[in-house]
Amino acid sequence: METLLLQNTDQDIARAGEILCGGGLVAIPTETVYGLAANAMDGSAVAKIFHAKGRPQDNPLIVHISELSQWNALVREIPPHAMALAKAYWPGPLTIILPKSDIIPDEVSAGLDTVAVRFPSMRTTRKIIDAAGVPLAAPSANLSGSPSPTCARHTMDDMRGRIEAVLDGGECNFGVESTVVTLATEVPRLLRPGAVTPEELREVLGSLAIDEAVMGQLKEGVQAVSPGMKYKHYSPKAEVTILKGSLSSFCEFAAAQAGHPHTYALCFDGEESVIPLPCVTYGREDDPLTQSHRLFTALRELDERGARQVYARCPSTDGVGMAVYNRLLRAAGFSVVACDAQ
Ligand code: TXA
Ligand code: MG
Repeated sequence: METLLLQNTDQDIARAGEILCGGGLVAIPTETVYGLAANAMDGSAVAKIFHAKGRPQDNPLIVHISELSQWNALVREIPPHAMALAKAYWPGPLTIILPKSDIIPDEVSAGLDTVAVRFPSMRTTRKIIDAAGVPLAAPSANLSGSPSPTCARHTMDDMRGRIEAVLDGGECNFGVESTVVTLATEVPRLLRPGAVTPEELREVLGSLAIDEAVMGQLKEGVQAVSPGMKYKHYSPKAEVTILKGSLSSFCEFAAAQAGHPHTYALCFDGEESVIPLPCVTYGREDDPLTQSHRLFTALRELDERGARQVYARCPSTDGVGMAVYNRLLRAAGFSVVACDAQ
């Protein structure tokens, strides 16, 4: 099929709404990443998402709403701490999981008895939901396993010929996916870090468990690559290794790789002049918001430049940095090397 490129105009938003309402798929901008949307109430429309992305059937989808009141019908009940969280951070880059109501198709929840809901802050996203007249199920609009798209071009690169349309809403503000927290457990649990930080969640919830998967397999002081972790997300075609340590030890390591073909550094702004490898940057070392905004674009750029080996500078895990580190760790297939004390 030919994939339409729609613009951020009232007319094209109305067109996107019609396609979605009619059971088609449209990739849409949000403040986090582009999403691949379908009518969340239509199981057969939602099933097409899995096909278009090559997504495993057992991975549930987030339902996007354009007004807080739409949440009621999707979940069994909204407990007070859930409402408090929504009042604090919605609309915004936060997804809240609760036990689902009966109207959620199995295709959305992938057989679980819970549903993930998000109320995005980007006005264009909400206009598209309004135009469709239904909540929209939408995973990130990448091919399964690739970095999430943060602009219409990257979305088109992955989805051309697979879906009815892509709506161009410009570059995504945050650039990494939403924070995912489940309130379906006794103690609220962070499943995926994002722009809403654990500290911010704790301000409202009091207690918050951090799921082990958030920081992957990494334990403090681990020296070498974790073997056997073949399951990657967000990954470029290149083999990525995170080097934990100072800039000077990174440079020493890089010097030993210099001259190897297709070998790149993924580093912080301003470090290009001292690292003896071709560099792609992803923000200043002390600026996790910019890092989150640029990481996925940087990973795609490495592919476009033909990188096969990439050595990445390790971001701080404070605040939004946790989300940046979480994505980079997966792009690296959990391959982390401590390069200081060698
Ligand atoms: O920012 C975002 O969240 C973007 C934009 C488009 O809204 N969406 C997104 O969707 O990142 P996706 O499908 O790529 O990631 C959703 C994550 C997956 O890891 C999925 O397993 C998890 O949320 N998830 C969804 N529903 C769940 C549920 N009921 N229980 C546990 N995890 C769930
Ligand atoms: Mg995704």
